[in-house]
Amino acid sequence: MKKTILAFSRVHPSLLAPYADQFNIIVLDPKEGDLDAQFQAALPKAHGLIGGNRKFGERDLEAAENLEIISSISVGYDNYDLAYLNRRGIMLTNTPDVLNETTADLALALILATARRIPELDAWTKSGSWSKTIDESAFGCDVHGKTLGIIGLGKIGAAIARRGRFGFGMEILYSGNSRKPELEKELDARYVPQEHLLREADFVCPVVPLSAQTRNLISRKELSLMKSEAILINVSRGAVVDEEALIDALQNHRIRAAGLDVYAKEPMSESPLFKLTNAVTVPHIGSATTQTRLAMAQRALKNLLDGLRGQVPVDLVNREATR
Ligand code: DGY
Repeated sequence: MKKTILAFSRVHPSLLAPYADQFNIIVLDPKEGDLDAQFQAALPKAHGLIGGNRKFGERDLEAAENLEIISSISVGYDNYDLAYLNRRGIMLTNTPDVLNETTADLALALILATARRIPELDAWTKSGSWSKTIDESAFGCDVHGKTLGIIGLGKIGAAIARRGRFGFGMEILYSGNSRKPELEKELDARYVPQEHLLREADFVCPVVPLSAQTRNLISRKELSLMKSEAILINVSRGAVVDEEALIDALQNHRIRAAGLDVYAKEPMSESPLFKLTNAVTVPHIGSATTQTRLAMAQRALKNLLDGLRGQVPVDLVNREATR
């Protein structure tokens, strides 16, 4: 009997096509109408799910009686209920590593865009306001030589720090659960308590997975410790930052600016953040380049195929599900 693969989002059909003789493949198709209805209708048949950007609650998977594996096209997996998947013996895999450099590129883009006020001055230039040279009120701040504070010096954090250190001569501070002696040597980075980092860094960059411990890691108190000229950059998960407190801090110029890729709720079409010139906002595009999204989909597909063929996928998140 052929097993069934259900692709619930962003997998190019050409990636799956070569496996059509080994698996039944169902790809949700917007042309066929409501995607949720298609997903629910196909779910009972599915042995493997592949896709990204979907929140799975307990009730969403009730009908998935044959499900063996979910292959998420993302490094983060906070949108899955791991305890539930473990109880059901459903494997979950993610796509680490392949997006580190691309996500770090975006963090740097946000650092530069906020510091040099690029979106604001772009809009101003295009609005026809450039009749004389800009005055001091439109000046930005330097990036080179400043202090970059990374909370969570994992692989993405390290890729951001490398860019800061070697591209812009920045001083690197980091905090987190453990020291990274190799990275300290490579980046001349200093391990400091988080409070110290918040007080000293010109750019504060939390780069942590979302968990009960990291939810609201940057809240009112942390924002109040930051320098008034400091800039917060978030490319991790929206809920790592208390968004209400951040909006307040930006509106009252408690900090200089924020560069944001991620939000408390996604997607969203309205937010006070979208009205602030000192918030540079992009719609969760950390890994969104053609090359990286393809690499993520390929890695996810390998995980899925390995799982369905009875092997342990290299990126298995929950070993508990296989016991
Ligand atoms: C991830 O992979 O978790 C990134 O946030 C991109 O979606």
